[in-house]
Amino acid sequence: MSGDAALEWWQTTIIYQIYPRSFSDSNGDGIGDLKGVTSKLDYFTYLNIGAIWLSPFFKSPMKDFGYDVSDFKDVDPIFGTLKDFEQLVQEAHKRGIKVIVDFVPNHTSNQHDWFQRSCRREKPYDDYYIWCDGKRDKDGKPQPPNNWLSQFGRTAWRWHEGRQQFYYTAFLAEQPDLNYRNPLVVKEMNDVVRFWMERGVDGMRVDALDYLFEDPDVFQDEPRSNLPGVESFEFEYNDHIHTMEKPEILDIVRGWRQIFDEFQKKDREPRFMVIETYAKPKWRNQYYKAGANPFNLDMCLTLQPPLSGTKVRDSVDQEYTNLPDNGWPTFVLGNHDRKRLSSKFGAEYVDALNVLLLTLRGTPCTYYGEELGMQEIEVTFEQTKDPWGKNYGPKRFKEFSRDPWRAPMQWDDTKNAGFSSNPLPWLPVHPDYVTRNVKVQQKSPKQTSLQLYAALAKLRQEPVFQKGEVLFSVTNDNVFSYVRQIPGSDASRYLIVLNLGQMSTKEDYSGSPVNSARGVVVQATCSVIDRIRNKEVGLKDLELAPGDGMVIRLM
Ligand code: NOJ
Repeated sequence: MSGDAALEWWQTTIIYQIYPRSFSDSNGDGIGDLKGVTSKLDYFTYLNIGAIWLSPFFKSPMKDFGYDVSDFKDVDPIFGTLKDFEQLVQEAHKRGIKVIVDFVPNHTSNQHDWFQRSCRREKPYDDYYIWCDGKRDKDGKPQPPNNWLSQFGRTAWRWHEGRQQFYYTAFLAEQPDLNYRNPLVVKEMNDVVRFWMERGVDGMRVDALDYLFEDPDVFQDEPRSNLPGVESFEFEYNDHIHTMEKPEILDIVRGWRQIFDEFQKKDREPRFMVIETYAKPKWRNQYYKAGANPFNLDMCLTLQPPLSGTKVRDSVDQEYTNLPDNGWPTFVLGNHDRKRLSSKFGAEYVDALNVLLLTLRGTPCTYYGEELGMQEIEVTFEQTKDPWGKNYGPKRFKEFSRDPWRAPMQWDDTKNAGFSSNPLPWLPVHPDYVTRNVKVQQKSPKQTSLQLYAALAKLRQEPVFQKGEVLFSVTNDNVFSYVRQIPGSDASRYLIVLNLGQMSTKEDYSGSPVNSARGVVVQATCSVIDRIRNKEVGLKDLELAPGDGMVIRLM
């Protein structure tokens, strides 16, 4: 759990995920944009954050809010222009902030020129997507070739009248999957990587990579997963042996890595490739070997309420234990696809979870607004924008819609939280914006979640938090605790104690690996900081209530 090699920028910074639609609207159309992001860059300096990841801002009909790209090499007018992007990069770099862009290689929009031409069987585009004749039923009507399902529910095969064939889609009908068995497609997407590297990006977050290849023999059904409570049209109904985690993906990743390295060679600035994958460690570790870093999304997916110290320890332990040599974790607590921390686990745990994220060994990734403890909005079926929610209709949309955690960022207490001058932002602002916003939380004389976040981000610039080892200490239903230290060095040692459970608990932390009876509290959750800031505490009987967390410098 420790290492001595010098660390790269992406190992010492926090990555902050911006959902551009929801961050800051510069032109009053109710939708966030790139100029809006540029205008907020000083916020990251305040937060001590050194890297931002921008969810897609490319040309798109917005059926999946930018994850359906119709031109990979241009900015959608909703978000601005290529010039705006270049300016964003320039301004970010001026402040020492790295820029990571989303890369959506698995599929395009059905409005992409390649798909339009493919539908017309124009060469060389006819083979850019996964086309097949399917089967015929007894009346001669075309039927999908197999039982493969789309992530958003129902068959993954869509009939195209013009071409008289089915095309395959892992996601929406409007997101046809590219055919990576065609070398021309591989080349096109390599060019996309180059295009953004040439515009100065420092890294890419690769979307839905596990879905990149399907078995070429499409006349094979996938077996049932037998997961309880899953209906036959839901994605989880099948075990995706023919459509996910195919080894061919790794060659493609190695190709992208080579391109990253070409750019890295030119200016000696390391480029970072981080992969969206919910796979098990065995498959995730293949990505490391291919030159990329998989996100650890275990805490988004597997970690379910009610929280407990043991559950969280096990999740962290699983990551550290399964890391390959020189592997580096990238921990994620939430993103644009997953519930907000306050709604999932309870508002009282948000600070403690941020303490966890920012004091572990590994790169933390924060979804915008979690530093304020932003809450989810209520969205009616009529207001629902997310196609995933819409697909499930008025009865079930709430189970699937991702709108509640994509609400506008809360900047101040003016109309629409300072997000937009438009009376109708694309999603409603959470009504608590009047008191929960950046301005109020920055100014408050009493510590706020935001102030805690910024202070932790500063603290984690100490080498012990970046490269020190992690030694688990007292852990039970309530508490998870660990020591950060650099063995054999004079650097301060820290004990992090978090009560993530349901009950108050007094524990003795003084034994191994703490080996100390006292320490000074340097940071703590807002629930306790006022009474213990910079105070010495005894570690033999330290009491924490649910949601309390402390970072203690050991004496
Ligand atoms: C994963 C993205 O995170 C999600 O938002 C999107 O809907 C799918 N990929 C399809 O691109």
